[in-house]
Amino acid sequence: MSGSKAKRMTSPNGAKFKTMRRVKLKKASEMIQDKIKKIYKAKVARIEKVSSNSHLIEIDLPFEIDIKAGQFISIYCKGLTLRRPFSVYSHFGNKIGILFKERGAGTKYIKSLKPNDIIDIIGPLGNGFNIKNKKALLVGAGIGAAPMAFLKSELDKKGIENLFVCGFLNKNEIPDCINIDKIYTDDGSYGEEGSVLNYSDELINTYKPEIIYTCGPYIVLKTIAETAQQYGLEVQVAMEKIMACGIGVCRGCVIDIKKNGEIVNATVCKDGPVFLGSEVVWQ
Ligand SMILES: Cc1cc2nc3c(=O)[nH]c(=O)nc-3n(C[C@H](O)[C@H](O)[C@H](O)COP(=O)(O)OP(=O)(O)OC[C@H]3O[C@@H](n4cnc5c(N)ncnc54)[C@H](O)[C@@H]3O)c2cc1C
Ligand code: FES
Repeated sequence: MSGSKAKRMTSPNGAKFKTMRRVKLKKASEMIQDKIKKIYKAKVARIEKVSSNSHLIEIDLPFEIDIKAGQFISIYCKGLTLRRPFSVYSHFGNKIGILFKERGAGTKYIKSLKPNDIIDIIGPLGNGFNIKNKKALLVGAGIGAAPMAFLKSELDKKGIENLFVCGFLNKNEIPDCINIDKIYTDDGSYGEEGSVLNYSDELINTYKPEIIYTCGPYIVLKTIAETAQQYGLEVQVAMEKIMACGIGVCRGCVIDIKKNGEIVNATVCKDGPVFLGSEVVWQ
């Protein structure tokens, strides 16, 4: 044994360093084990077009898993380095549904899948909505309707009174698989005319919710959060950010939030995607 090695092994600092390294290695290994537990080879059960620009894909997992509304899965898309995140739209036993809008290479790949194809997913990821036993207004916009539909089914199961409203650009974009209580279209081609945001005050004043949950484009989340705050209502917002790792390691999806009077960083993938509207630092 060389002198320097013997010294390292016997010095108290060396022992402390080795213990710290062992703890770090254990933590890293636990994180990897955790991640491995969440990786599934799943089978496509069904895929169909449900609106002019969105598809529903149903996936059979090898076994049942627990999923909360607002959580998401990350799908490996052949040929692409980064997985793509999607909110869970439905969940029955070992079957989960994803409602997705075609955007680029990843969603084009998912759209090309056929029943019985095997796909590689990680999930469930993120925190999900914190369901309260309070009369709820659910506001979705565009493809943000997907996690809200799952949340509505969870609220219904628990017998919590709720109203699910959603805005779309036009009637062709409304997925025909979702039950929505009230629909708004920007061009008036279905339901009430105009953005769902134009109706937020009216909805709050007439329906009188005790809590609001929302998912959609950033401007919708920000406006709903600000409106809810004016009425002193709790609002939970499901945020979206382009993601890389999806498990809180790369810090690529960080946003600013307010915690105990300070502005701190939070990852949308692990600390979120659901945050209190009052804690997000809106841009
Ligand atoms: C937590 C979470 C949940 C999501 N849930 C859904 C869902 O239920 N249904 C659904 O259709 N989409 C959802 N998305 C968005 C989805 O991840 C992106 O549409 C998808 O990654 C695009 O991949 P792509 O390869 O097809 O497009 P890309 O080629 O990667 O991108 C095409 C265009 O879309 C933009 N884009 C890509 N990802 C995002 C993103 N995350 N947010 C905003 N713009 C983006 C890009 O900037 C680019 O302009 C979710 C995103 C997050 C973070
Ligand atoms: S995507 Fe890596 S930390 Fe969120």
